[in-house]
Amino acid sequence: MSKKVLIATVKPFASKAVEDIKKICKDIGYDFILLEKYAEQSDLVNAVENIDALIVRSDKVTREVITNAKNLKIVVRAGAGYDNIDFEVASEKDIVVMNTPGQNSNAVAELAFGMMVFMARGQFNGKPGTELKGKRLGIHAYGNVGKNVARIAKGFGMEVVAYDPYVDKEDIEADNVIPINTVEELYNTCDYVSINLPLIPETKGIVNDKLLSIMKRGATIINTARKEIICEDSLIKVFSVREDLEYASDIAPGKKDEIIEKFGNRIYFTPKKMGAQTLEANINAGIAAINQIINYFENGETTFQVNK
Ligand code: 3PG
Repeated sequence: MSKKVLIATVKPFASKAVEDIKKICKDIGYDFILLEKYAEQSDLVNAVENIDALIVRSDKVTREVITNAKNLKIVVRAGAGYDNIDFEVASEKDIVVMNTPGQNSNAVAELAFGMMVFMARGQFNGKPGTELKGKRLGIHAYGNVGKNVARIAKGFGMEVVAYDPYVDKEDIEADNVIPINTVEELYNTCDYVSINLPLIPETKGIVNDKLLSIMKRGATIINTARKEIICEDSLIKVFSVREDLEYASDIAPGKKDEIIEKFGNRIYFTPKKMGAQTLEANINAGIAAINQIINYFENGETTFQVNK
């Protein structure tokens, strides 16, 4: 029987990406099912009933979803962060979970610079701002996005440093980036800090009052990772006494209203998560996702499995 692949995206892929995925399914003889912009979580729960494979973005693949998907063998998160997938239940049921690392990282890195320039120019308020050239940029976590941030920063003429205890110093240096020994040094010495950490239990709230309070005078944090990486209470506490600090984030924090009311134009939040919202990223991540599914079914390939 032919495999049934469901793409379920509250925030849809660009239509070209959907067409490409559909064609790949057709060519191999898999059924293609599309659920876009669904309004209720129950729509997803109902749609998964007979499917063999699921492609999602930030959609919530909960216990209820997985339990209702009796034939499900593989879930691919078309993107980097897989904190939206209930790993425990997926593993219990021997369902393979994958992401598509690197496929949307240029898009996220470009957005980081869009936000950096926007903040440096006073959110385009018409008053004199500052330039990125000559400023020190600290990259917090040197993964796929961090590497792209470093590459673009050099074009701006920034001094680029990075902190990542899981990446060899030599690998960071090979990109002409200065590896920093402690996270405190990164926050203490940089004009801009770009947060590029994945959200895992160890990184939740990792940017706390200790790090925020030692930030360099006039520094700006650019967060294109998850909002949970920053401890919101710490942000409120430190920003109340450090009027020189600024924060831009790709997606609003939980305490958005309070933070905007208190800190006004020192803060910027995108209305929706925008990092991977480009045609190119959608095509890259979407095609990688369907190819990984095909490779899994046809060849047992599990290279990008994240719940091994
Ligand atoms: C990711 O984790 O890949 C990015 O945050 C993009 O998420 P999105 O696909 O929901 O836009």
